[in-house]
Parts: sequence; C-alpha cells; structure tokens
Amino acid sequence: MISQNIFHPLDPEPCTCGNCLAENDTWFLQRINQSVEPFLSANYQLSEDAFNWWKILQEEKRNFSHYRETLDTLFQIFPNSPDLIDPRPQECRSCAVVGNSGNLIRSHYGPLIDFHDTIIRINHGQTKGYESDVGNRTTHRIMYPESSTDLDNTTRLVLFPFKIQDLEWLIKAMTTGFSGKTYAPIKSKIKANKDLVMVMNPGFMRYVHEAWLQKKGRYPSTGFMAVLLALHICDEVHVFGFGADRDGNWNHYWEKLKDTNFKTGIHPGIEEYKTIRKLAQKNKIQFYRGW
Ligand code: C5P
Repeated sequence: MISQNIFHPLDPEPCTCGNCLAENDTWFLQRINQSVEPFLSANYQLSEDAFNWWKILQEEKRNFSHYRETLDTLFQIFPNSPDLIDPRPQECRSCAVVGNSGNLIRSHYGPLIDFHDTIIRINHGQTKGYESDVGNRTTHRIMYPESSTDLDNTTRLVLFPFKIQDLEWLIKAMTTGFSGKTYAPIKSKIKANKDLVMVMNPGFMRYVHEAWLQKKGRYPSTGFMAVLLALHICDEVHVFGFGADRDGNWNHYWEKLKDTNFKTGIHPGIEEYKTIRKLAQKNKIQFYRGW
C-alpha cells in the first residue's frame, strides 16, 4: 500500500502508510522498546535473567545450558535468522492480526483482512467456511505445540515457546516425530515449510509482560503478544477478533463455548483488552471491534 508521506513515531524515516502518526505519545514511548528482538536467531544471546523469567511460565526444570544446546540443534534445521521484511522508504508494511474472538461472526471483515500484506492468525483460527468474516489468506500462523495445526507450504510457522520441550517439539515434529507428553494432547508431526519457521524470543515475551502489562496475570496471551509483535515488525497494524463475549469469556468464532467459566484463563484479559483499546485510541493500531 502506498499513500502520503507522514512522520511515523517508530521510524525516523518518513512513513508512507495511510495511518501514520503525526505526533509522539508519552504513554506509548514509555512502553515501546524497539531494541528487543522479537525473534530468536542463531547469533542472539538470551540473558540468563530472561531465561529464568521464562522457565517459570510452564515450570521448566532444565537449565540454561540445556536451553542453549537445544537452540544449537534447532538452528541446524531452521533458518538462522527470521524472514522479515525490512522497512523501506516509500513502502508500507501493512499487517492484520486476527484473534479468535466470536465477535468476528457476521462481521464481514473477510475482504478487509485479506487486503493486508501480512496476515497473522493464531492457534486454531480457521478460515475454511468463515471466509466472509475472517478472510482466507494467512501469511503467518502463531502456535505452540498444544495449539499446533498443519500449514501449507507458503505460510510462516511462528512458534511461541513456553518451555524447552516446545523447542524440542518443533525439531521433532518437523523431522522424526515427537513422543513426549505435556498438559494437553499434542501432535507428533506437523506439516509446514521448514524454511519458513520463526521462533519468538523469550526475552520479547518478558518485555510484553513487563512493559505492556505491568506484570499483570501469569503471562500475556498468544493474541496479545501477536499484537505487540506486529507493532514491532509492521508499519501499520490492523487488529481484528479481540474481545470477550458478554460474560467475559474468550469464545471462538468457529465453536460454541465449552467452558463457561473459562473467562480469559491465566491471562490478564481485561488489562490486555484495555491496552489494545488504548493503542487504538492513540492511533497506534486500527481496532475492529466486531459484532
Ligand atoms: O483462544 P485462542 O488463544 O486461540 O485465541 C487467540 C487469541 O485471541 C487469544 O490469545 C486472545 O488474545 C484473543 N481472543 C480474544 N477474545 C476472544 C478469543 C480470543 O481477545 N473471545
């Protein structure tokens, strides 16, 4: 998408998006930290401090050297650095982040979502049968082992790891097959293009939890981290499919709610929603509230 030149606060270069910002904002500048790498790469060194924060999320017992050894193996199989589009003058990297909220039903957002260059979907967020409300293109799918689905050859698999076993799962599920156990059923093999795999940096997860949620909740939801990821890798961010139902539950657009006491699980859903609405109010993202 190419439009007028307006200054963008995340980028000293002129912004060519339709929704760039004319001024900076203290609330936003107090939180955003562009020096935190969103993805792991072969050369990236996670601090032991960040590892110690991350290992508590799902009670990882193994140590930092085991984490590093696992990553060495991982980068023998998957790309050494993430496949990202660099910012370019006169170009606008427009992204849609599609959460899984039931508010997408009857939204007719499909064509609007498909219009973006990058379309990030999360976990089981399906498109088949829901095209008019959610679109049908997917460039990136975020998942963790317990939420994994097969991908086509052109979609990027973005793993959000919560424990060392999640990294081991990625290695095995894409090669010989994984046989370990975790808190939920887990696919032993997954179909995806191994050249399009990217792994979120645990340090980025910590940054989202601390800087954007003031450490509220156990840790941020996959969807909230996806919105922040988009703020870091896109010039313009459009957010769809976020918001609980009227009872405060995180329902899904493709199924009837199973657990009416789920609310937002271990995640600080109310705080996340407030922050997303505030980002929209400050014109940092475009928010589509659904129906
Ligand atoms: O349920 P699932 O985790 O797959 O949904 C993906 C993300 O979408 C969540 O992590 C949450 O951030 C967001 N979501 C939401 N409102 C819902 C359902 C999901 O904001 N009703």
